[in-house]
Amino acid sequence: MSAPTPPSSPRIRSARGSLVVAIDGPAASGKSSTAQWVAQRLGFRHVDSGALYRAATAVAIARAGEEFDEATVLSGLDEISLRPAQHSFMPIWKRGEMEELIRAPEVTRNVSRVAQMEGVRKWVNVHVREAAQGRDVVVDGRDIGTVVFPDADLKVFLIADPWERARRRLTQRHGRGPTDAEIADETERLVQRDAKDATQTVQAKDAILIDTTYLTQAEQVERIVSLARVFRDDASADGSGERG
Ligand code: CDP
Repeated sequence: MSAPTPPSSPRIRSARGSLVVAIDGPAASGKSSTAQWVAQRLGFRHVDSGALYRAATAVAIARAGEEFDEATVLSGLDEISLRPAQHSFMPIWKRGEMEELIRAPEVTRNVSRVAQMEGVRKWVNVHVREAAQGRDVVVDGRDIGTVVFPDADLKVFLIADPWERARRRLTQRHGRGPTDAEIADETERLVQRDAKDATQTVQAKDAILIDTTYLTQAEQVERIVSLARVFRDDASADGSGERG
């Protein structure tokens, strides 16, 4: 007996049978939280590629401190796996959850360096593609629409003013409104990380650009869900959409 479709879930289906929504953008543009909400609304699974880069970094730091080298990072990858959760996948290290560990400031400080390592990029891409195999997914990162899923059904590139991104990130982290001085410091850190991540942060030619500076989180989620619905209508019109 199949589970009933939740009322909020648009019934969309691409010609290949499963659907990929790619959400890319710079640091703290709201990709992960937006992707999580969009996945829930659509009844899809969320795959956070940044969480895997962070997991690789966290394990390297645990083994060798912040002075870790590439060999340390690569030899730690085998200890990390992705465990399916209800609407997402969680990185696991030696059977332990890593959610808190991967958000530590020393991980954020070092993750861009790890993300430049070719072996790490290959490892992340294998895990992300495996997680997406045969299921409908919302995948977020920086190169999802260009490298990981160049044939994604829907590609979105999120941007926002750096000051606003810094303000949101601090509010999320501390649960209170930050001061202007705190926002200025965080903006500096974000802009530096953007520069380090610039090579892989590429907007695909066929991605839809959404500037979220003046949007609420609920509004940006709604826009992407609506875009997915447009896709559903197109798929039905050419006969490849799901019936019913
Ligand atoms: O949420 P935030 O934008 O702070 O970062 P994240 O999505 O958790 O990604 C952490 C880091 O992983 C980024 O700063 C990039 O260095 C790297 N990354 C990447 O290179 N390619 C991706 N597809 C995703 C993340």
